Amino acid sequence: MQIDVVTLFPGMLEGMVGASIVGRARQAGICEIRLHDLRTWGEGRWRKVDDRPYGGGPGMVIRCEPVYRALEAVLQRPVGPGTPPVSQPPRTRALLLTPQGRRLDQPLVRELARAERLVLLCGRYEGFDERIRRGLGLEEVSIGDYVLAGGEAAAAVVIEAVVRLLPGALGHEGSAEDESFADGTLEYPQYTRPPVFRSMAVPEVLRSGDHQAVERWRRAQALERTRARRPDLLREGGADAGGRREVDDGGSEA
Ligand code: ADE
Repeated sequence: MQIDVVTLFPGMLEGMVGASIVGRARQAGICEIRLHDLRTWGEGRWRKVDDRPYGGGPGMVIRCEPVYRALEAVLQRPVGPGTPPVSQPPRTRALLLTPQGRRLDQPLVRELARAERLVLLCGRYEGFDERIRRGLGLEEVSIGDYVLAGGEAAAAVVIEAVVRLLPGALGHEGSAEDESFADGTLEYPQYTRPPVFRSMAVPEVLRSGDHQAVERWRRAQALERTRARRPDLLREGGADAGGRREVDDGGSEA
């Protein structure tokens, strides 16, 4: 998978894309991630990318020209009215990170992970000139109902969630484990040594060596935890809802 990020602050993402699972996936050639500084396509000596809003009001608005030029350079083709949309699912998914977008969840992450190419456009300031929305055919995605100072942290979230699903990225049994969690429940509690820590013992069943009993315990714990913390997941994605909702908070490096 190739991932291109267009941002005013590539430095905010540099560390994240070089470390941990994402960094290893890059080194292993599982994904290629390129960070592009929007100012490269800015105007004039100061590489200006923003301007005051028509009609007045606070803050600055990202101008159309640098964004259109950036996407033309990244995609190597004309973009804008009269050309195909920049986002061409399923192979190319081009996202505008904004609190106004479709909420990111695990099903969307799985869809994105099937693409060959992701293009992520991060905003700053008061927003984008509306003609960026009108003319480009980007998919607007939000990581949650809160407002960040810009889209970089949101892009980092998308990248990490997607890259860990790419074949080979987890590099251990985690991927298979992941599939077994694709059933709409939160992960069961995990323990490692020591068997007793500050008077808190590891549940006996986990040390019993009885794999079936361990399996049953984990399943029950996962359901119980989901019922207690996220009953909405069971209602939305349960067998009787006719669809699967895939949530997992496991499969990380731990
Ligand atoms: N930019 C600012 N807030 C955001 C959010 N919640 N999701 C995605 N991009 C954003």
